[in-house]
Amino acid sequence: MKRFRRLRSGEALRDLVRETKVHKSELIYPIFIADGENIKKPVDSMPGVYQYSIDCADELLQSIESSGISGLLIFGIPKYKDETASSAYDDNGVTQRAIRYIKENYPKLLVIADVCLCEYTSHGHCGVVHDHKIVNDETLPLLSKMAVSLAKSGADIIAPSDMMDGRVAAIREALDKNGFIDTPIMSYSAKFASSYYSPFRDAAESAPCFGDRKTYQMDGANGREALREIEDDIAESADIVMVKPALAYLDVVKEASRLGYPLAVYNVSGEYSMVKAAAQNGWIDEKKIVLENLTAMKRAGANIIITYHALDAARWLEE
Ligand code: PBG
Ligand code: ZN
Repeated sequence: MKRFRRLRSGEALRDLVRETKVHKSELIYPIFIADGENIKKPVDSMPGVYQYSIDCADELLQSIESSGISGLLIFGIPKYKDETASSAYDDNGVTQRAIRYIKENYPKLLVIADVCLCEYTSHGHCGVVHDHKIVNDETLPLLSKMAVSLAKSGADIIAPSDMMDGRVAAIREALDKNGFIDTPIMSYSAKFASSYYSPFRDAAESAPCFGDRKTYQMDGANGREALREIEDDIAESADIVMVKPALAYLDVVKEASRLGYPLAVYNVSGEYSMVKAAAQNGWIDEKKIVLENLTAMKRAGANIIITYHALDAARWLEE
């Protein structure tokens, strides 16, 4: 008789035939750096996540370095916001200063810089606003300036998350013109207009003050369109593509993995907060759930996992 259970009889045998193993070098940890001094502010909706000012960030950066994960995704929270997101492309802005500090003191850590205007605009939208509309083409030069400024500060990878059309090509051209021909772009290619982002907007102080992001982020119902977005970003010369959020969109991850490009998933804030809340109530086993979720993302085809669980997971993967 065919007995599938033969290979399940003990841990060593199960380990031998295990198809999918997550490695900590595949994990990226998102961090929030606030302008100012002496800040370590908990994000209430994301237990275990804090905003740090640069002068207080060594504790965080040392734990990332010693965890053995590959790097971090940086979000800056500026003091000054305006209509055109000036702080986003100020060479002395909080994100630029933080990147310089990290690259000087932790040179081995990969620094991925999120490129989007929403943390820097007074209205909280990811692009330029006219008459309550988010205008695509006027946003592209601002994103390009931001990308160049972050690359100049030392960012290893530029990661546009704004969902404007044509931004990968615009950013690539700007990077190349400014001598950053070797700086890769990780594009948030299939980024869905998801309710799973709400804890992040507390963390990054980036909630839109009117309307929503549905005119630029994707409709969660559209799997085929997601592939067209991904293929278009590849054509615009994205080096790494991304699907976001992760768990509710693993079908898209699976299909995107067939394109054969490096593929990232973003295990977003709401996905994290749900696990943390249930774990705090004693309803689930946090470690087992997190490792099961990360394995599912990898099994679907992700090569890179951006997750707020990264530091815990790195420890658990060693045990
Ligand atoms: C900003 C941005 C968002 C996230 C990453 N970059 C939020 C948004 O689009 O509102 C979400 C990350 C998360 O929920 O963890 N463009
Ligand atoms: Zn944004």
